[in-house]
Amino acid sequence: MEHLLKLSSLTPDEIIHILDVADEYKRLHKAGTDPKDLQGKAVALMFGKHSTRTRTSLEVGIYQMGGLGTYLSAADMQIARGEPIQDTARVLGRYYDCVVWRTYRQCDLEEFAELAGVPVINGLTDYAHPCQVLADLMTIRERRGTLAGRKLCFVGDGGSMANSLIVGGLLAGMQVTCVCPEAYRPAADVLMLAHKYGSAFHFTSDPVEGVRDADVVATAVWNTAAPGTAESEQRLRDFVGFQLTGKLLEAAKPDAMVLHCLPAHRGEEISTAVFEQHADEIFDEAENRLHVQKAVLAILLAGK
Ligand code: CP
Repeated sequence: MEHLLKLSSLTPDEIIHILDVADEYKRLHKAGTDPKDLQGKAVALMFGKHSTRTRTSLEVGIYQMGGLGTYLSAADMQIARGEPIQDTARVLGRYYDCVVWRTYRQCDLEEFAELAGVPVINGLTDYAHPCQVLADLMTIRERRGTLAGRKLCFVGDGGSMANSLIVGGLLAGMQVTCVCPEAYRPAADVLMLAHKYGSAFHFTSDPVEGVRDADVVATAVWNTAAPGTAESEQRLRDFVGFQLTGKLLEAAKPDAMVLHCLPAHRGEEISTAVFEQHADEIFDEAENRLHVQKAVLAILLAGK
């Protein structure tokens, strides 16, 4: 693994290896014996959008590993005043051992990675959220013991979370169903890849059909527009029925897990009751961002 830009660049064995290393980092952290595998290493954490989990879990994880994580707000950098990403990549690559970037366009991230000369990690683009989905897979395996053959259903907007859950779930051997309104389908290349998995993948716009017999139901914010705007009002209309409620989850397995990458909009993509009923799972998922990103860093920078 040279970078972590999207899960489709990984093999099934590489995904399982990340999860195995993450489990070990979690075990060692709970035992109070964090290995200092990033001693002398510096990681740039460049954010062009808001973040709570990604930023803080990386800062704390790098500290636990004995390295230096530098938070860089893209709004405060010359990149915000027009310095080309190509130049920013070549500069940061000479100072840092690794760069994490949260930005908009996947093509910008991929161009950055080509030029940086050091490993680059996707901290979220409009296309993919690989760190989040690795944490999701870790959480499912931790709670259910296995991934292969289990049914994972995503309900929501066909954006970065849908794209990455489809790819990550299929690579991990899961049965994956994606439920989105027709106008909010996942990326075309993701659907093309998914359809190569035959009956292991199913796309539908019917939430009850999609959730049926699921072992895991995941969602994410679908009302991403600013409150009160025309786009927000449109999304509220388009996503009627796409809320994880107790009623909808009656179609899933009785012990189905619920995952949410957070932040959550209660009363939109998930009801307050379902959120609180599954809060242990959801906050384990958030915690596992810490452990799984430590694993990714250790694999990229310390030969794990
Ligand atoms: N899930 C996630 O990426 O959270 P943040 O936006 O807070 O980083």
